[in-house]
Amino acid sequence: MLTLNILGAGRVGQTLARLFRDFDQFKIASVYTRSAKTGQKAVDFIGAGQAISNLRELADADIWMLTVPDDEIQEVSKLLLDNRLLKPQSTVFHCSGAKSSEILQPLRDAGHFVASIHPVRSFASPQLAASDFAGTFCGVEGDTEALEILIPAFKAIGAHTFLLDTGHKLRYHAASVFASNYLVALMDVALKTYQAAGLSPEMAATLAQPLAKKTLENVFNSSTEAALTGPIKRGDFQTVEKQLADLSEWDQGSANLYQAFIEPTKEIANRGKSK
Ligand SMILES: NC(=O)c1ccc[n+]([C@@H]2O[C@H](COP(=O)([O-])OP(=O)(O)OC[C@H]3O[C@@H](n4cnc5c(N)ncnc54)[C@H](OP(=O)(O)O)[C@@H]3O)[C@@H](O)[C@H]2O)c1
Repeated sequence: MLTLNILGAGRVGQTLARLFRDFDQFKIASVYTRSAKTGQKAVDFIGAGQAISNLRELADADIWMLTVPDDEIQEVSKLLLDNRLLKPQSTVFHCSGAKSSEILQPLRDAGHFVASIHPVRSFASPQLAASDFAGTFCGVEGDTEALEILIPAFKAIGAHTFLLDTGHKLRYHAASVFASNYLVALMDVALKTYQAAGLSPEMAATLAQPLAKKTLENVFNSSTEAALTGPIKRGDFQTVEKQLADLSEWDQGSANLYQAFIEPTKEIANRGKSK
């Protein structure tokens, strides 16, 4: 069985390591974190491996999973190279959504195989993520030699893998930012705007929830064009102008956001007309 070293064992590192162990994919060797306490906690959850916080104690391994925060990936991979810790033709991968395998180029130049495997989900806690990981989509890209090992292992733990274009990794991740993070920001503005109109926080949520849920349902059951309703769709541009002016009087940030959405929303309305 191939051996796996884990560098960075937070939410993602612990979850994947536990699943690789449970599904007999890799033998867990070293679990490296900066603090001995987080490393031991991770090993307890994974149920295998040796917690270490000194790079020199790293065991030999065939595969290296760099599940440190995004900004640490390059630095940690440099440490592996500088300290000559990798045996020839090792497989090294990270799980970042925004960064590609290209950030591991120095390892590739040294004759190793690199990849990125991005699970498209939120890992709130390792316990929860490990119990419902099956069915998680994972965007993969990198060297064929690395993917030939990693894709079957990820499929074995329940992932649905799909290939990503290495050159568009940042853009791919921006799409997830729109679909998730900015949706949250938009809901925050909607709730604040209801309250600025005199409604209680509870009433604001009561009104926003069915509107938002039904709209999302319509988008995915039909299309964005079919799901669009409201003043821009109807062509009520006087209302749009008045709303913009009213928001500017209350809160310029919310007015700017409202304005930024006018053109993209008109575009959807026009596409809808031409269908
Ligand atoms: N969380 C998600 O929902 C999610 C989803 C998809 C992909 N990802 C990706 O998965 C990767 C890991 O994210 P995460 O959420 O699991 O992070 P996390 O929970 O913050 O865990 C980071 C781990 O790395 C260790 N660490 C930090 N800096 C280190 C360093 N310089 N050297 C060695 N260990 C270090 C931390 O322990 P110490 O502080 O003790 O060192 C901790 O064990 C990231 O690339 C992220 O983009 C995350």
